[in-house]
Amino acid sequence: MSTPFRSGAFRLSPSDYRALTDTARQNPEAYWQTQGTRLEWVNAPSSAQDTGNGWFADGTLNASVNCLDRHLETRGDQTALIWRAEEADHVVRLTYRDLHARVCQMANVLRAHGISRGDRVAIHLPTVLEGVIGMLACARLGAIHVVLFGGFSPEAIADRLADSGTALVITANVGRRGAKRIPFKTTMDSALSLRPETLFVRSVLVVSVTDEPVPMQAGRDEMLTPLLEKAEASCPAETMASTDPLFLLYTSGSTGKPKGIVHGTGGYLTWASYTHELVFDHQPGDVFWCTADIGWITGHSYVVYGPLSNGGTILLFEGMPSHPGPGRWWEVIQSHKVTTFYTSPTAIRALMREGNELPRQYDLTSLRVLGTVGEPISQEAWSWFDDVIGGGRCAFVDTWWQTESGGIMISPVPGAVKEKPASATLPLPGVHPVLLDDKGQVLDGATEGVLCLDGSWPGRALTIWNDDTLFQTTYLRPYPGHYFTGDGARRDEDGYYWITGRVDDVINVSGHRIGSAEIEDALAAEHAIVESAAIGIPHDLKGQGIVVYAVARDPSHPELEMLAVRAITAKVGRYAAPEKVYIVPDLPKTRSGKNVRRLMRKIACGETDGLGDLSTLADPEIVDVLIRIVQG
Ligand code: WTA
Repeated sequence: MSTPFRSGAFRLSPSDYRALTDTARQNPEAYWQTQGTRLEWVNAPSSAQDTGNGWFADGTLNASVNCLDRHLETRGDQTALIWRAEEADHVVRLTYRDLHARVCQMANVLRAHGISRGDRVAIHLPTVLEGVIGMLACARLGAIHVVLFGGFSPEAIADRLADSGTALVITANVGRRGAKRIPFKTTMDSALSLRPETLFVRSVLVVSVTDEPVPMQAGRDEMLTPLLEKAEASCPAETMASTDPLFLLYTSGSTGKPKGIVHGTGGYLTWASYTHELVFDHQPGDVFWCTADIGWITGHSYVVYGPLSNGGTILLFEGMPSHPGPGRWWEVIQSHKVTTFYTSPTAIRALMREGNELPRQYDLTSLRVLGTVGEPISQEAWSWFDDVIGGGRCAFVDTWWQTESGGIMISPVPGAVKEKPASATLPLPGVHPVLLDDKGQVLDGATEGVLCLDGSWPGRALTIWNDDTLFQTTYLRPYPGHYFTGDGARRDEDGYYWITGRVDDVINVSGHRIGSAEIEDALAAEHAIVESAAIGIPHDLKGQGIVVYAVARDPSHPELEMLAVRAITAKVGRYAAPEKVYIVPDLPKTRSGKNVRRLMRKIACGETDGLGDLSTLADPEIVDVLIRIVQG
C-alpha cells in the first residue's frame, strides 16, 4: 500500500533527493562541509569529519548566535516564538529581536550568579517561555544545559543533579495542567534535600507561573522575574569550540543508572538545522508546532535548535490536548495557522478515540506537513492522522531517531520520498543504516534484524557524561564496526525501513524510554521485595505498558503491590507506574541465573500456548505457577 505524492510546492523533488544521497555517499566530507555552512561560525572548520571526539573539530561558534543574532538583520521583526497559554486569549508573540533581548537578560542573570562556560545549569520547567530562553541563555554563556522532564520524581532529579554537577537550577513555582497544579518548586526542594552531600547547587531561580506563593530558602532561592526585568538586554556570546558540549540530556538504557547523553555544539546544531529543513520542508512563513516537552530530545532539536537556527516561527502551547475539551489542539492549529505539526503516536491514539467529527469542526487547512516520532505508529493511527487531520493533503513524516542521534535519521522527505503508512521509509542523505543478525553479520535485501548505523553523522552524541566507557560498551562494542541503536527493524523490497521496537530491555511507555533496570533498581531498594523483573507489554493507548513480577520477602504482607508501585513512582516518576504488579514465588531463570524475560512477556500477554523449550530453565515448574497467578 502506498500513497501517491501529495501536490504542493515542496522544496525537493525525488531527483534532488537522489542527487543529495549520491553526493553524501560519494564524497561525505564535501557533503558535510557544505552542510556545515548553514551555520555562522566564528572560525569556519577546516574539516568535516568525526574526529572521535566530535565533528568540525577546529570550528568555533556560538549556538545562541546561530539561533538569534544572525537573524536580527534579515528577520529581526519576524515572529520567532508564539506562546499560547492555557487560556485561549493569552498569547505572547516574540520577534527574533524580542527573543534575543530576553535571552541576553537571562544570560546576564545567570552570569551574575556565577555561571560561565562549562558550568551545568538545570532547567526544570513547564511549557513557559523561560524554558526556551533559559536553554539559549546557557548556550550564549557556553554553559551546559540539563533540561529535566517535569514528570521526574525528586529521587530522579537528585540523581541527575548529582551526576551532572549542576550549579544552578531554573524552576517554576508550579506548572499548570488543566485545572491541576504541578508542584515544581516543592519537588525541586525535595530533590535538593535528599542527598545534599552529593549536590553542588548554589542557586535556585523560580519562575512565577501563577501567583501561588512557594517556600523560598534564603541565600539560595530567588524569584526570577524581577531579576530579568532589571537585567541588561545585551550580552556578549562566548566563542565555543564545535566539540564543546552544548547540553546533557538524561535518557534510559539497559543499566539502572540514567545516562547523561552529551551533545556537542557545531555537529549537533548542523544536524538539527539540516534535518529540520529537509524533513519538515521548512519554508518562510511556516508556523512549526512540535508538541514535545523541552525535557526530551525532540523538544531540544525541534522546538528550539532546528527551527530557530533556520529562522522559523515556533509555537509553544502551555496546555494539554484534552483540556478544557478534546478539541483543544485543533483549535490551536486553527487559531495560529500551524503549517507543520509534529507529535507522538501516543497523542494520536488518544485523540483518535474522540472520533472524526470533532476535528472536522475546525479549519485545519493551514497544515502542510504532519510528523510523528517516539514509537512505532500503527497503520490505523497513521491513516487517521493523515486523513482526518491532514485532509489527505499533507506530507506525512514518520521520523525515526533517538536522543543519541541528535536529530532525525530515517524519515520520508516531503515531495521526494513516497510514504508508506507506518514506515519510517528511507534514511536521510548521509545516513547509513544496516540490519544485522544475532551474530553481527550484515543482512542484505528485504530482511529483518538489529538496526545499526554505519559511519558517523554530525548529530551523533559525543559521549555519556562522566562515563565514556559506558558509551563505548553501549553503542560501539555490541556490534563492532557499527553503531548499535537498540532497535530492531524490517527492510522491505523497496529498501524501506519499518521499526519493530527495542531489542534491549528498554520499555517505551507513551514515547518515554524507561529501562527495565531502572524499575528493578527502584524495587531493589524496597525492603519488602527480594527480586523483580519489569517488562513491556502492548498497551492500546500508551504503546507499551509496564508489568512487574516481584518476589516478596513475606508474601503474606497485605500491601505488596502498592509498596511496589510507590517504590517505582518515588524513584523514577509517576510516568513509570506499572499497569500490573504480580507477586510471585520466583522468577523464571536459566540455570545460569538469567531472567527469561521472553517467557514473562508471553505469560503477561496471555500467550501461553507454544512457550517453547522450557528445559533450559532452572525450575520449569515455575511457568505454570506464573500462568496461574497472571490469569488470576
Ligand atoms: C523509538 C526520541 C518507531 C525507538 C526521538 C528509539 C521510534 C527510541 C520512532 C528513542 C519511530 C523513535 N518509529 N520507533 N518513528 N522514533 N522511536 O531517545 O525505539 O526518547 O530507539 O528519542 O524511540 O527514544 P528517544
